Amino acid sequence: MTLLETKALNAGYGPLQILWNIDFKVDEKSVTALIGANGAGKTTLIKVLTGLLKPYSGQVFFKGVDVTGYPAHRMKQMGVSLVPEGRRLFPNLTVMDNLLMGAYMLRQKDEFEKRLELVLELFPVLKERRNQPARLLSGGEAQMLAIARALITPSDLLIVDEPSSGLAPKLVDLIFKKLEELHETGLTILVVDQFVERALSISDTVYVMENGKIAIQGPSTEVANNEHLKKTYLGL
Ligand SMILES: Nc1ncnc2c1ncn2[C@@H]1O[C@H](COP(=O)(O)OP(=O)(O)O)[C@@H](O)[C@H]1O
Ligand SMILES: [Mg+2]
Repeated sequence: MTLLETKALNAGYGPLQILWNIDFKVDEKSVTALIGANGAGKTTLIKVLTGLLKPYSGQVFFKGVDVTGYPAHRMKQMGVSLVPEGRRLFPNLTVMDNLLMGAYMLRQKDEFEKRLELVLELFPVLKERRNQPARLLSGGEAQMLAIARALITPSDLLIVDEPSSGLAPKLVDLIFKKLEELHETGLTILVVDQFVERALSISDTVYVMENGKIAIQGPSTEVANNEHLKKTYLGL
């Protein structure tokens, strides 16, 4: 089953077109990876998928609904949760208040309590640090907080943009293990990652972007054997 799909998407910033005719799909319960060089357009595509950027043309479908042009808060209400590139935490707010900021659209306090319990169970370290300002967290903890904040609202699709940036390898492993745990609970995950080998190993399906276009796509096991990919991204 398809959870999210784009058809012939064109988008950019003012007159500067970045995305060209993007057909992209995320299957329900999959881990889908989006890779490509710096500046290829990955974050721009994610902005369109999360309602942060309106496309010039083309369509976005989520759960079979045409959500093209829906604003960000409506995409979130529909169950699309974003962990943005660079995490975007509020450094001077406590861990708890950062989580509250993610919950602005939850109507009831008991809803927040329930989701809070769930994310703190996933990330126990945040529980210990709940009264500390976010700026005192280590890089790994900050990334966990960013993921927890995204998941504080009911989520069907978690989009994670460059979760490993700025993290030591050991912490990267930890974050990806957490993502795997989340996937095992039934969450669908779309992850942007710079490391092609890791992206291939954690995903079912992979898309490779080049200059705002989808250059390669397919099951990760097949794409791993793609000659262009091997030459361009793996130096083989
Ligand atoms: N707000 C913006 N205004 C104008 N150009 C932008 C903006 N954000 C990104 N770009 C440009 O869009 C292109 C794609 O960027 P981006 O989607 O961030 O790539 P990636 O995430 O793959 O590194 C780059 O050339 C970048 O300079
Ligand atoms: Mg990016």
